[in-house]
Amino acid sequence: MTNSPRGDQTEAWAALKGHYEAHGRDFDVREAFARDPGRFEAMSFEAPEVFADLSKNLVDTATLHFLLDLARECGVEARRAAMFAGEPINTTEGRAVLHTALRAPRGTAPFSDEVYGVLDAMLAYVETVRETAQSGIRHVVNIGIGGSDLGPQMVVPALDAFVHPGMTFHFVSNVDGHDITPVLRRLKPEETLFIVASKTFTTQETMANAHAAKAWFTANGGTDTAKHFVATTTNVKAAAEFGITTTFGFWDWVGGRYSLWSAIGLPIALAIGAEHFRALLAGAHAMDQHFRDTPAPKNLPLLLGLIDVWYRNFHGFTSRSMAPYHQGLKRLPAYLQQLEMESNGKRVALDGTTLAYGTSPVVWGEPGTNGQHAYFQMLHQGTDVIPVEFILVKHPTHSLTDLHAKLLSNGLAQAQALMTGKTTDEAAKEKAPTASKDIDPWVLAKHRTFPGNRPSTTLMLEMLTPHSLGALIALYEHRVFTSGAVWGINSFDQWGVELGKAMASDLLPRLASGDVQGLDASTAGLLQRLRA
Ligand code: F6P
Repeated sequence: MTNSPRGDQTEAWAALKGHYEAHGRDFDVREAFARDPGRFEAMSFEAPEVFADLSKNLVDTATLHFLLDLARECGVEARRAAMFAGEPINTTEGRAVLHTALRAPRGTAPFSDEVYGVLDAMLAYVETVRETAQSGIRHVVNIGIGGSDLGPQMVVPALDAFVHPGMTFHFVSNVDGHDITPVLRRLKPEETLFIVASKTFTTQETMANAHAAKAWFTANGGTDTAKHFVATTTNVKAAAEFGITTTFGFWDWVGGRYSLWSAIGLPIALAIGAEHFRALLAGAHAMDQHFRDTPAPKNLPLLLGLIDVWYRNFHGFTSRSMAPYHQGLKRLPAYLQQLEMESNGKRVALDGTTLAYGTSPVVWGEPGTNGQHAYFQMLHQGTDVIPVEFILVKHPTHSLTDLHAKLLSNGLAQAQALMTGKTTDEAAKEKAPTASKDIDPWVLAKHRTFPGNRPSTTLMLEMLTPHSLGALIALYEHRVFTSGAVWGINSFDQWGVELGKAMASDLLPRLASGDVQGLDASTAGLLQRLRA
C-alpha cells in the first residue's frame, strides 16, 4: 500500500490555492465560453453509457491541470490499483474493498469462485420465484436498512420498465412501526417472500422488523417459513438461528453501501430477472474498466471527484444538489447520501490526524421537474452557490413522447438559466404581469435579477437500462473513491454511526424504567416527557 501525502501536503494544493486567488474566485463561465468556442467539446467526456458535459463548471484547463497534478501527488492511481488488487485499503477494519470483484467477468478478479458460486445459485433461485404461477409469490418485502436497503430501493423503481409485471416490491427499513404496518396490511402470507437483508444480521432496525414480519406471518396462517423467508448476509450462522434456511452470503470485503452487486441485490434480481441483473453488473464492470484503464485527463469518475475537491476546498461550496430528470431515479439522491456522506464524511486522515479542510459535501436533491417547484428558487437567487448535477435520459421507456420532450427541455433550461442568469438591465426591460403596480421599477428589477455563473454538470444517458444504471452507479462509487483518496481519509469505514447506536441501547431500558441517572439534563427532561 502507498503512503502518499494527503491533499493539503502537496505542491498542487498550494498551486490550486494560488490559481483560485488569481483566477478561480472571479471565474466567469460565460466569459470562458465567449473566449473559447471549443469549450463544450474540450470539456465533454465519454465514459461507458455516460456522456458528461463539464463545461458549465467553474473550471478552466489550468484548473484541471492542477487538479490532475493533485491526484498524481496524492497517489490516487496507486490507491486505485491497491483497491482493485484486494489490498486492505479499509485500514481501520483491516479489510479489502472489492465491490469491483462482484461485477468482474468470471475468473478475472479476486474471489471469483466464491462470487460466482453465490451469484449463480442466487440467480437460479430467482428464476424459480419469478415463475409466479408455480411459486405463488406476488409480493417481495426487503427488510434491511442503509446499504442493505438503499441500493435495491433505488434500483427497482429506476428499472420499472424491466420489472416482473406480476410482482410487487416493498422496502421496509425504519424501526418505526409506521413503516412495516401499512406494508403488511396489503399482504397475504402465501403470496409473500420476505428477504431479511443485513450484512451483520445484528442491526437493531432490521432484526426488529424481521421478528415483526415473522410474527405477522404466523399469526396470519403462514406455515412454510422456509419458503417465505430468505436471508442475504455475511452472518449465515445468525440467519440460521433466526430460522432461515435459504441464505445467500457475501463477504466482509463488501461494504454495506457498495453491496447492491452482491446477494443484497436479491430484490433487484427478483424484480428484473437473471439476465438483466447480469447486465447491471456488466454495466458497472464497464465503468470499472474505464476508471482503472483510462488516462487521467479523460477519466470521468476521477475528474468528477477532483472537481468535487475544487468546489469543497477552494470555492468553499458545502453541498451539491442532484437533479435526475427521470422519475425512476427518485431515490438516487438518498442512495448517494449514504454512498458519499457515509464514505467521505470523515474528519481525520488515515494516520489519525485531524484534517484542516472540509470533506464530503452535503448531497441532496429531488427528481426534476419536482425540485424546480420547490427549492430551485434558492439555487438561482439564494445567497449560496450550490453546484447542481443534472441527469438527462435521452430516450424514455414509455410512449408519452410529448411529456418527455417537456421534461428534457426543463432540465436543459435549468442548467442554462443557472449559468446565464439575467442582469438587472434585462429584467428592467421585461414586463412582469404579476408584479405590483406600485413597486419602483428598479426595486422590481433587482428582485428579478439572476446572478448566473452558477455551476452545473450534466450527465446524459441514452436510456435507463440495467446496463446504463450499473455504469452510472459505479461512476459515483469511483468518484467518491477519488475525492476520498485526495482527502487522505478512509472512505470505507463508518465509525460515526456507532455512538448513537450505543446510546440508543442505553436509553431503551431507561424509557421503560424512567431511570435518568447520569443523563444530561436535556435528554433526561425529554425522556421524562415521553413517559409522562
Ligand atoms: O448505518 C451503518 C451501517 O453499518 C451501514 O453502513 C450499513 O449499510 C447499515 O448500517 C446496515 O447494516 P447491516 O447490513 O449490517 O444490517
